[in-house]
Amino acid sequence: MSETTERWSSKRAFILAVTGAAVGLGNIWRFPYMTGENGGSAFLMLYVLFVLLLGLPVMAAEIMIGRAGRRTPLAALAYLAGKAGASPHWRWLGLFGGITVFFILSFYSVVSGWSIEYLVGTFNGDLADRTPAEIGAAFNDFLADPYRMIFNHTLFLLMTMSVVATGISSGLEKLNNLLMPLLYVLLIILVGYAATTDGFGMAMRWLFTPNLAAINAHVVLNAMGHAFFTLAVGAGALMAYGAYMPEHQSLPRAVIAVAALDIAVALLSGIAIFSVVFAHGMDPTEGPGLMFVTLPVAFSDLPGGMIWLGIFFLLLLFATWTSSINLAEPMVAMLSGTGIKRSTAALLVGIGVWSAGLLPALSFSTLATIHPVGNMNFFDLVTTIPTDIFLPLGGLLIAIFATWIMDRDTAFGALGARESHCMLWLNLVRFVSIPLLIIVLLSGLFA
Ligand code: PHE
Repeated sequence: MSETTERWSSKRAFILAVTGAAVGLGNIWRFPYMTGENGGSAFLMLYVLFVLLLGLPVMAAEIMIGRAGRRTPLAALAYLAGKAGASPHWRWLGLFGGITVFFILSFYSVVSGWSIEYLVGTFNGDLADRTPAEIGAAFNDFLADPYRMIFNHTLFLLMTMSVVATGISSGLEKLNNLLMPLLYVLLIILVGYAATTDGFGMAMRWLFTPNLAAINAHVVLNAMGHAFFTLAVGAGALMAYGAYMPEHQSLPRAVIAVAALDIAVALLSGIAIFSVVFAHGMDPTEGPGLMFVTLPVAFSDLPGGMIWLGIFFLLLLFATWTSSINLAEPMVAMLSGTGIKRSTAALLVGIGVWSAGLLPALSFSTLATIHPVGNMNFFDLVTTIPTDIFLPLGGLLIAIFATWIMDRDTAFGALGARESHCMLWLNLVRFVSIPLLIIVLLSGLFA
């Protein structure tokens, strides 16, 4: 397979595309409920630590491989392994990433579908003037309705695959330019409102007062998985985007910008959501429904609240859309690398992901009594195993490939940074990220 000549239209377009991939459900939906379930500040601290020590350096490694190979993940790994005289089997790491994004996208589409439902709900007035208990009950009714769950999942996947089918479009770049900044503005308004509620002080204390007692192997593993998930690292999705990276751009600088933007969204939504939780005496350990129950309550207190809530779900939908496009890209790119037309590849991936998504979609209704492992249903399984195990494992192999296998000049060239910065990255990945990843993975699995 030969090199791709496609490029993002500018350095800024590349940063926005990667930020679009990173910022999504991970920040606004997953981060708050995981923080709630894993002891508040303990989880937050570990997550920030893992983003800095693991997420960032491995993100640079992953994008660097895509840029050095200028091919789909599978082909890039094969090409670079060949160039370094290493085993061609490294290319199966691309396939492993494909399997990981397949499962992630299957539930990602289901949960993004919930935002579609809520978006429509705000404009219908379904969510106006309800008590927290009523909103919680309505959410559970929705989960238990197999038809609405499948309908929204289908709609969201169609939105995603129709973009991926035509290739990374310049239309998306322009939309990114406009809507990403708007999301930040709205989150800041929301935090401004949160600061006027009684719950704000408690939320700040709960999120930011160190609570080392809450840390255990399970919390550590969850925080590590989340650091990979939120940065979109470990499955080759960013490797696929790296293939189109402009020639003269510093990769370390780009990933630092993305990580800062990503952490900011998580912190803002965490502060907003937990202020509401504490102000209304709600339960921080609510689980995956947390955001869908707290935000309607928060906005209904604001003047014109339902309009704001509608705008919020619209922006959230956009954020999840840009992430899901990134999730689908490596699978579609790798399939079309075998000679299949891009649109056909997108159709096949779409059908596969749609079918797999039926399991999480029906986990609260038709399949509610089925627990394939322990007390976990399909939704629990697919939202934990690929994120907490597959992403870090993929990240570990990516890190090893980038720093121990690849030819050093090629790697440094594709990082596009000063020699001293490249050395810093190399040593950080070799002697901090890789050992830390191994220790956390092993202790999480066997604890
Ligand atoms: N980072 C995305 C989010 O936070 C999810 C994602 C994971 C995207 C892995 C691509 C790859 O919503």
